[in-house]
Formats: sequence, structure tokens, C-alpha cells
Amino acid sequence: MSGAPGSPIDSVLREARRFPPSDEFRAGARLGSDELERLYAQAERDPDGFWADRARELHWFTPWQQVLDWQPPWARWFVGATTNLAWNCLDRHLDTRLGARLGARGDKAAIVWEGEPGDRRTLSYRELHAEVCRFANGLASLGVTSGDCVMIYLPLVPEAAIAMLACARLGATHSVVFGGFSAEALRDRALDAGARLVITADGGWRRGKIVPLKENVDRAVAGAPGIERVVVLRRTGHEIAFAPERDVWWHDLVAGASEQHDAPALDAEHPLFILYTSGTTGKPKGIVHTTGGYMVGVHATTRWVFDLREDDVYWCTADVGWVTGHSYVVYGPLLAGATTVMYEGAPDFPEPDRLWRVVAEHGVTIFYTAPTAIRAFVKWGEAWPARHKLSSLRLLGSVGEPINPEAWIWYHRVIGGGRCPVVDTWWQTETGSILIAPLPGVTTLKPGSCTRALPGIAADVVHKDGTSCGPDQGGYLVIRRPWPSMLRTVHGDPERYVSQYWSEIDGVYFAGDGARRDADGYFWVMGRVDDVINVAGHRLGTMEIESALVSHPAVAEAAVVGRPDELKGQGIVAFVTVKSGVVSSPALGAELRAHVTQEIGALARPDEIRFADALPKTRSGKIMRRLLKELAATGAVTGDVTTLEDLAVLLRLGGTDDE
Ligand code: WT7
Repeated sequence: MSGAPGSPIDSVLREARRFPPSDEFRAGARLGSDELERLYAQAERDPDGFWADRARELHWFTPWQQVLDWQPPWARWFVGATTNLAWNCLDRHLDTRLGARLGARGDKAAIVWEGEPGDRRTLSYRELHAEVCRFANGLASLGVTSGDCVMIYLPLVPEAAIAMLACARLGATHSVVFGGFSAEALRDRALDAGARLVITADGGWRRGKIVPLKENVDRAVAGAPGIERVVVLRRTGHEIAFAPERDVWWHDLVAGASEQHDAPALDAEHPLFILYTSGTTGKPKGIVHTTGGYMVGVHATTRWVFDLREDDVYWCTADVGWVTGHSYVVYGPLLAGATTVMYEGAPDFPEPDRLWRVVAEHGVTIFYTAPTAIRAFVKWGEAWPARHKLSSLRLLGSVGEPINPEAWIWYHRVIGGGRCPVVDTWWQTETGSILIAPLPGVTTLKPGSCTRALPGIAADVVHKDGTSCGPDQGGYLVIRRPWPSMLRTVHGDPERYVSQYWSEIDGVYFAGDGARRDADGYFWVMGRVDDVINVAGHRLGTMEIESALVSHPAVAEAAVVGRPDELKGQGIVAFVTVKSGVVSSPALGAELRAHVTQEIGALARPDEIRFADALPKTRSGKIMRRLLKELAATGAVTGDVTTLEDLAVLLRLGGTDDE
């Protein structure tokens, strides 16, 4: 146990297992240890030169005069340069003048898509380019121009990527809203962003049912008078209301449109997208990303972290409604000229082996998902993946939350067959691209650690006064220097950008996470600092107690919260779901409390274990500890529940006032 004055969090968990890259993986890896050390050294010695070299791997219409203009906390990257992100994602792979390596991808699959009902579509780079150009021309014919904001509210269909790329091509800032969000959420975001147009579909498929997207748009637009036009994709084909002077069918819009479109040269700092972070508390923030730096960050990280090779079939399961879908479903893989897989529906439809069926049938080689999904796979049981041949996989990834070591080990063993490195990638909507992650051909993995910062990223764990913590001392995770894909501001609220990210600790970017670095310099993220529990003066991260619980064979998932305790300051309440086939009982509760005592110590032993059939999560899969905290403390929940994935979960936990 080590805490220090000024540290927000104490670290109590130790994980001793180690996974060095296999000789086979090392031999074929894109990045070897010599090259990596060279990159680290260059980034240290000459950060601007380092990023300029990364930028030169992409196409610019006019070069930059300055790599970085840094007026803390305001950054401009590749000052004076012009480029076009969609051109780099598409035309660059078709343009034979660029030489043999590039320009030869016209017939290569860019997007391999499967709808929930089982329909399939593959778009080559040439076809995707044509579709994007047609749609860009269609949008332009509706008056969309550079600087406008366009909302995208679609299911996970190829047109979602086409719409994003068409906006990027035109210089229209897109704001994607996840199709699971309500009409109200869409309206609030459209108002905040000042959007003029919405791109949607008649509906999408989810667990065999239709998500009524167009209906939601109609209700949202009623409260957002700035929306002049609505483009509607026909997906489900069911009857919808149609306002002919406002609404236009996607297929009508592109019917006569040309497949040629000259990509305009856009300023490197042109706003590419606004993405609202769901946030578990407060008003959503519109995170603003710009063009040039974002492009450089996602291009470099996609190739490094996923070790992309020409013949890979890469699948990131995220929805385009989240930043992961922006950076690692659409832009990163397409910049890298990869084949990116998209699947529209639920992972357990029609049965809990759907994802493994997709992996086997499409020959997926790289698979990137979230710990919440992995814990669901663990809960459903090994029989489901065992039905399918998963031998095409060679690399696995994780993102979104700290991954509990036991879930990591399960993922590695059951899905990866013990042969695939697991890259645990730490980043945020705000960071735009991955900042801390293993390089799979080089890094020795430790389950539960996102390992080292990538070259060029000055990550550290610090005390409140900004000084670095010692090995294994818990502290605040910060980034000491700007990086190209960083957020530029919070839309319409620059003060919030300054106060939230650059004021907590002097002179550095504050991520909001608690973490420690071990003696090897590896990062262990312990969760949001707001979630820390203070038991008798010890500041415990929820993550470590949850990991201890999940390491018990009966447990699928756990969420730990504090509740006021007269004696100890805070007591610990654990909400636990068990694996399928396990029956919960008071005896199991006692066993779990003893298990935590053994794994961590009596200090971290939960005062109470509450069994649940599911935990309340945000729509992006993060456990809503705020609700559980309220429930543990008062027995009811009164706060805002609009970001909750499934209200019924909370009702079954016995916890809303409007039951
Ligand atoms: C927060 C950012 C990054 C895309 C998806 C989430 C947590 C994310 C990890 C990881 C531990 C992680 C952090 C971070 N987080 N990845 N590999 N290990 N924690 O984006 O919704 O902006 O959330 O997710 O707490 O701050 P986001």
C-alpha cells in the first residue's frame, strides 16, 4: 500500500503475470524494438520534428509553416498547412501516381459490413470513394458547405462511414449521435452544435426490432428550428412520416450525382467533428477535434498499436456514435488502407455467438472491443466462442475502461487461443487517438496494465502539486505536452475547456483518471478520480476492488461504490453479477467478502454485497457508479438517468423514485 500526501488514490492490487510477445509475432511485427527506441528517442529530443515526420506519411496540399503553435492551453498543429482527411482516406489509395505501395488499393475491400438480419455488403476503396463523392455532391446540392454542422444519426451501416467521410470531404463539421440516444438527446446536441441538417435512416435493427430513428428525428427537429433539411436512408423499409419540403431520401439525393468530387484544401485546424461525451454527470460536452492533427494521430496509432499489415481483416466493434468508432472504425483504418469490418446489431442476436460467427465467417485477424463486452462474453460462457473457428485472429484489443486482469486472461485464453497479444489501449474522446498502449511486437504485457505511453506522448502520474509520483504511488494521470490529436476546445464553452482539463494541475493536461506507474514505468489506470472511496483515510480506487471480486470464479461483473459510514468515513458496497449457472446466496456473499480480504486486505472488504442480474451502464457500456452510489446511500435514485442504457436494470435493483 502506498499513498502520499497530495495523492488522490492508494494502490493496493498487484498483478504478477507477464506475457512477452511470441517469437513468431515479433518476427512479423511492423514495429520492432530498435525502431521503437529510435522513435522514443526522436520524440524526446525533437518533438516537433518527430510529429512532422509522422505527418509526412500523409498527403498535404500545402505544407505547414510551423508544426505546433502552443499558447497554453490553446494549440494549433501544422499551422498554415492544408489537407483533406477524406482524400487521405480514399483518393490516396487510388492515386497510382503515388507509387506502387499506395494507389494499388482500388479493388481492396475498404468496408466489410454485416447487418443484424444477416445482409452483407463489401465496398472496395474504389466503390467507397465513388459513394462518398456522390453523397458529398448530394449534400452540396442541398447547400451544405464548409463550416456548416451536420448531425449524423444512423445505425451502424456503411452509409454512416460514407456520411462522415462526405462531411469531412466538404469541410462540414459532423456531429454523430449514437442511434441508441433519444430524441431529446439528439435535439439538445443539434441545438448546441448549431446544426443545419440531419442525416438519418427510417430505422435500424437491434435485437430483431426496429429502432425508430426517423421518428426520433421528427421529434428532435420540432425542438431544433435550425435544422433545415433531413436526409433519410432507407434501411428497414417500414412506413415513416415524410415531410417533402424538408425531408429527402438518400437514394434520391445521390441518384443523379457525379462520382467525381474535387476535395477542397482545408486548413489543418478546420473543425472536423464535434462529439458529445455522454458523461455520467452534468451537461454533455461537445468535444471539438480538427483536421490535420487528428489525422496524424489516428494514422500513426492505428498502424503502431494494431500492427496493421496489408492482408489484415480488422474489426473494431464500436459504434460510430463513440470516438472509438470515429478513430478506429472509420478514419484510422481507412487512412491506413486497411479492411475495416462493421456489424450493425447486438452481440447476442440471434444467439450469444454472433460476434464469433462474424469473426470466423469474415476471417477477422484483429479484434478490438470493450471490457464491458468481454465481461458479458465471460458471463455467457465459453461454449459460445467454442462453436467457431477463431484461428484467423492474431491480435486482440481492449478500450473504454480498465480491464480486470481476470477478464484479460479469459480474453487472451478463450478468444485469442493463448497466441494473440492483447493491446489494452488508454485514451479518451478528448485525446482523439490512443495515447498509452502496448506495441504488440515489442511490449511484454501485464494483464490490467495499458503499459507505456506511445512515442511522442508525455504521460505521467503526479501529485496535486504536479510533481511525479514514485513507483506504485497512486496519483493523477496527466499529459505534460500537447499532442496532435488533442481536443482543441469544448464547443461554445472555452472556459470549460480551460477549467476542466488545464486547471486542476498546473500546466498539464488532466485526464480525470487515477493511476499509478510500476517500477517498469507501466501505467495502471485505477478509474475516474471522482469514483475514489475513502475508507478510514485510505483512498481506494473502485477498479482494484472490482478486479479482486472478478477474480473469483463465480463473478462475472462487479461495481463497487462508497456509502457514508460514521466510523470509517465511507463503507464499501459491491454490486455483483454472477456467471450463468451460478446461484447467488448469502453464503456466496460471505465468500466474496473473504475473497477480497485475501486478495487485497480487510481494508477493502465490502461491507455489503448486493447481487444483481445486470448493472446500470451508460450507452457506451460504462458502469454508472453515480446511480449505484445514490442507491447504496439512500436506497433510491433521483438524479438524471437519461444516459442510462436500460432503465429496467435500475428498477430491478430497486432504485428509482418513479417505480
Ligand atoms: C475514459 C474515457 C477511449 C475511447 C472510449 C472511451 C476510461 C478508456 C481505458 C483503458 C483504463 C480506460 C478512462 C478514460 N478508459 N480506456 N484502456 N484503461 N481506463 O472514451 O468515453 O471518452 O472515456 O475511459 O477513464 O478517461 P471516453
